[in-house]
Formats: sequence, C-alpha cells, structure tokens
Amino acid sequence: MVLNINITASPKIIVALDFYEKKTAMKIVDILDPSIFYLKIGKEMFTILGYKFIKELNQLGFSIFLDLKFHDIPNTVFNATKAAADLGIWMLSIHASGGKKMLMSAKKAVKSFKKQAPLLIAVTALTSLKEKELHEIGVNMSLYEYILILSKLSYNCGLDGIVCPGKEAKKIKLLLGDQFKIVTPGVRLSTDNLYDQSNIITPVQAKESRIDYIVIGRSITLAKCPKKKLDVIIKSIR
Ligand code: C5P
Repeated sequence: MVLNINITASPKIIVALDFYEKKTAMKIVDILDPSIFYLKIGKEMFTILGYKFIKELNQLGFSIFLDLKFHDIPNTVFNATKAAADLGIWMLSIHASGGKKMLMSAKKAVKSFKKQAPLLIAVTALTSLKEKELHEIGVNMSLYEYILILSKLSYNCGLDGIVCPGKEAKKIKLLLGDQFKIVTPGVRLSTDNLYDQSNIITPVQAKESRIDYIVIGRSITLAKCPKKKLDVIIKSIR
C-alpha cells in the first residue's frame, strides 16, 4: 500500500535507495507516493542496475536525484553530465571542490535541455566529514568556512543549489537566498542510529533552517517498519 500523506511544505523528502538488490529497493519504492517523495539513486545502485533502473523508476512516476557526485576534468564532467541529463533525471550532483571550470562545464552541458534540464547541485562537504578530517587533507579552515567558499563558488557558477550539512545550512540559506536550493543528507530522528554520519540534524531542525530537501536513507530503509518511520518523520514536519 502506498503511503499517501499530504505534505506540501518544505523540506521535501528524498529517499536514498542505497541497496545491493533491486528486490529490496522495490519494497521501499512500493510504499512511496511519487507525487510526494523523490528518490535518490547513488553509486551503489547505479553501478549494479545502471540506467535501466532509472528509466523504470521514471515510468513509475518518480523524479530521480542521480547522486553520482561527479568530480573529474571539465571535458569528462561535461560529457557525463550530458549523458545523465539524457536519462530524464530531476537532479544531479557534482563536487563543488572540482573547481570553477568543472562546475561551468556541467552547467554548459545541461543548457540545451532547457526546461527538461536537471537541477545541478554541488556537494560542499560530505556530512560524514569531521573538521579534523578536513585538516588532515590539508584544508586548514573551519568546516563552515570551507562550506561557505564552495557554496559561493557554486552560486557564482550558476548552479541550482548545494548539498550542505544541516548545521551550516541555515546561515548559507540566509546569505544566498531562497532560489538557491539546499539539499541536506545526514538527517536523523533523535532516537536513530547515526551510522557513519557525523554532522546530523533532525527533520524539524531542517524545517527551521528552511532547507528545501532532506535526504533520508537508512533511518527509513533499515527501520523495522519503514512506513511507520516515514509517518513519524512526516508528522514531525507537517
Ligand atoms: O543512510 P543515510 O541517511 O545516512 O544516507 C545518506 C545518503 O546521502 C547516502 O546515500 C549518501 O551517499 C548521501 N550523501 C551524504 N552526504 C553528502 C552527500 C550525499 O550522506 N554530503
């Protein structure tokens, strides 16, 4: 049975399908109403099931966030972005740290798709990343400063938004405005297992920060009853 609850207010929910098998993924897909929930296909499912799975989910009416986080030389990112846009996806991620030329080449790649172009969203910092780890890779600034630099770069390159950890999202939203979309993973209810995430927020905090989309994976997909879990999440932000 499809979970059919009326939520129109932000944040909208993107369910991360991080599964090894299609059969398991479809158990979650089957309880979701495509007019309410978006689906995120990441490296794991795309590597296993490829573009055909995207097409199948599209046919079921779902808008797909293809989260492959492109990070390569501009020419490769241009061609990969064009290929991804050809699949009819709704949103695509690339790494902001790939730099200005790379971001601009992704933007150029979707230009000819006009209104059908996917939203281009740049990953600032992974929500699993701790400030200490940032310093370990030679970036000697605070996590917020790092996210701010990459957010401004993405904004200036004409991207549609960023993937940004929840705690930093509020200030970025105020600074860059409502048109620039914020997508936040690392969302957990206070009673949830964190797994490998370190920078987490609750759905209610996401709403207070005016985050546009929250990405939720294991809290829902590994819950004893995913439907009940979705219900609790939705009620908390309605
Ligand atoms: O299971 P969980 O809710 O932690 O899933 C989060 C999802 O969001 C994963 O698919 C992960 O790849 C993705 N993601 C993230 N942090 C980012 C960008 C994407 O956790 N900065």
